This record gives sequence, C-alpha cells and structure tokens, in this order.
Amino acid sequence: MSGRDLSKRGPSTEAIHGGETRPRAGNAITTPIFQTATFVFQNTAELAAHHSHEVRREEYGRYGNPTTHVAEAKCAAIEGAEAGLAFASGMAAITTALFAVLQQGHHVILTDDCYRRTRQFCNGLLGKFGVEASIVETGSVEALEAAVRPNTRVLISESPTNPYNRVVDLDQIAQVGKKHRLLTIIDSTFATPINQRPLDHGIDLVLHSATKYLAGHNDVLGGVILGKEPIIDAVRDCQGVLGGVMDPHAAYLLIRGLKTLPVRVERQNASALAIAEMLSAHPRVEAVHYAGLESHPQHEIARRQMRGFGAVVSFEYGGDLDETSRVVDAARLFQIAPSLGGVESLIEQPALMSFFELSTEERLALGIKNNLVRLSIGLEDPDDLIADLKQALDG
Ligand SMILES: Cc1ncc(COP(=O)(O)O)c(C=O)c1O
Repeated sequence: MSGRDLSKRGPSTEAIHGGETRPRAGNAITTPIFQTATFVFQNTAELAAHHSHEVRREEYGRYGNPTTHVAEAKCAAIEGAEAGLAFASGMAAITTALFAVLQQGHHVILTDDCYRRTRQFCNGLLGKFGVEASIVETGSVEALEAAVRPNTRVLISESPTNPYNRVVDLDQIAQVGKKHRLLTIIDSTFATPINQRPLDHGIDLVLHSATKYLAGHNDVLGGVILGKEPIIDAVRDCQGVLGGVMDPHAAYLLIRGLKTLPVRVERQNASALAIAEMLSAHPRVEAVHYAGLESHPQHEIARRQMRGFGAVVSFEYGGDLDETSRVVDAARLFQIAPSLGGVESLIEQPALMSFFELSTEERLALGIKNNLVRLSIGLEDPDDLIADLKQALDG
C-alpha cells in the first residue's frame, strides 16, 4: 500500500487523465474531434428534457461541444479549478469575461504592464459602454487601494508580466479584492498552472492565452478562464451571445498539448534559468529581467508563490536600437516572431514588435527601452540555445 491519497492526483496525472470521459466513442484512447456544428435530438421529448435541464447534453456548437468540454475540464483539473471555459483566443476569453461581469457605471482597475490589447479593451472599448478604467503601477498595493472607488467591480492583473517579468503578490491582490468586494482576475499566461495556481491564493478567476504554453506548439489560438462554477456559468451565457467559442479541432490540439504541459514547462523553466544566468554574466548585457534571478526585484515573492519561473527572459543589450536589432538578426535558432510558450524559441525587440505603433517618447514612458530584447525559450537543447545567443551577442 502506497498510502497515497488517490483522490488527489499530481499535475502530470491530471494533464493526462483529467477531464477525460470514459468510455470514449469508438473505444478510442484519445478524445475524438466532434467536428459538428449542431447536435441531434431523437424526439421533442428529448428536446424538452434538455430545456428543463433534466439531462445535460449538447445542443448547438456555440453553446458547447464534447471535445471542447474535455479541454475545459482538463484545464480546470490542472489549475485546481471547479470549472473552465474555452474560447477562440485569449482576447476572446478576456473580453467575454469582462463583458459578463461588468455593466454601465462600473469601474475596473488594471495594472500598468497588462497585455496591451487588454489595456486597449479596458481603456478604449469598455469606455463606449460606460465602464471606466484606472491603470495602476504593477506591484504597488498603495496605488491599488488608492484607485478603488465605490463602483469598482474588477481588479485585473498579470503575473509575471510582459516584457519585464514583474511579479505581483497574489495573496495581497486577493486580500485587496476581498476587502473591497472586487472580482480579482489574474492573467496567468506567462506562469502556466504548473508554475503558479492563483486560485489557491484566493484569486477569483484565472485566465490564460492557451495559444501560449497550454497548447504549446505555436499552432493553435485559444483562451481559457477558470474559477468557481457560478461565475464560469455566467461567462458561458455571455459567450453564447458573443460567440467567441473554441473550435473542436483547436480543442483537440489543446488537449494534446496539455498532456505534455508539465514536462515541457519543467524543461523550459530549467533552460530559461540557465540562459538568464548566462546573460547576466555576459559583458554586453546591461540587465536581465527574469524572476528566477536573485537580482530580480520580486524574486522573493516569486519564490514564495511560484514553483518555477517560466520561460520568458528579457534583457537589455549594451547598444542602441539598431545595434540591438543586429543582435536579434544574428540569432539563428531563435526566430523573430510574436507570441511565446511554444516549442520553438523566439526572439523579438518589443520596441519594434508589440510597441511599434508608439513614438519613442510614448514607448519610453511605458518603460519599453530601445535595447530591450525578449526571448521565449522553447524546447531545443539548452546548450544550443546558449551557443546561439552567445554568437549573436559576440558577433
Ligand atoms: C499575457 C497575455 N494575455 C493574453 C494574450 C492574448 O491572447 P491571444 O493572442 O490568444 O488572444 C496574450 C497574447 O500575447 C498575452 O501575452
């Protein structure tokens, strides 16, 4: 007898078996792709039973699909959530969740290095519907408290953030949320549920761009939200109206990706730390932003709440915009592309990629320096990645 509590499974076991229904159609070991837009009722009595919630079954693709339900349940099992809901993209997840919980006259607080499209949605689009947003400095509880108004409903943050890997104290965010009766949302895309579980800290809703680590292969767009059943149900109702559902083939790819999430993340964490350490010691590198380094300002918080520090590493090169571009161009294994979290390692200069629309002054005001480089560490051999970066930096 092992004495292990079989009702409590580890994240790798959940990644393989969590959310899977048994037996499966055709006795397949994998969940099939239910490539269908609608679902048949045998008779009107069955339809009536469905409407009265006597039976739970699918009805129409915009309200759910069996493949997608498995992807949602697997994400929930790995994250330790009661329920999950999948979307066509991370942005569909964020916007639908906010539309579901906000109404005219409400106020949202978000932290300043939130994903720029999230900021754009809260600051721009939500304003059209009478919802105001305040942006506060990431990590400052004083700024957070000061921003709370009587009509504040939602507090949304990321951790770690893009591109500086800033880490927010999840316990503190949850406490502020509880004190002021706010719904707390953490975009945990950079961390993955393997490295961090915000719900265990009292956060209400966790959100991932599944396009990144969860699916993990740079071949599918998706998003998920995870939390308690009543709020997920409310967002599902809103999704049925807005329509940003994950398609069944994408759900299949997400299920497949999730099965290897724990091993991928473990390896990516280790490679990223080795690369961050190499960069820290490199004479041409002025600063490295990685929460796994003791020099990182929130390293202690990260150690307390994370099991690994993720696989995005940012650094500042000792040169101007063009000299930094030459380093980026000299990389061979690292490819220039947006996104992160996949098996292929990527490199980009935020000043020229995500923040290209802004003037130099606007960019610098946001802290996006010309010599900043962001790496997404993939699954290549870490020694090859280190050698590639060294030749690019030394060249
Ligand atoms: C932290 C974070 N959240 C959300 C998103 C949006 O996800 P998607 O591109 O899947 O819509 C991104 C995309 O880069 C992201 O980096």
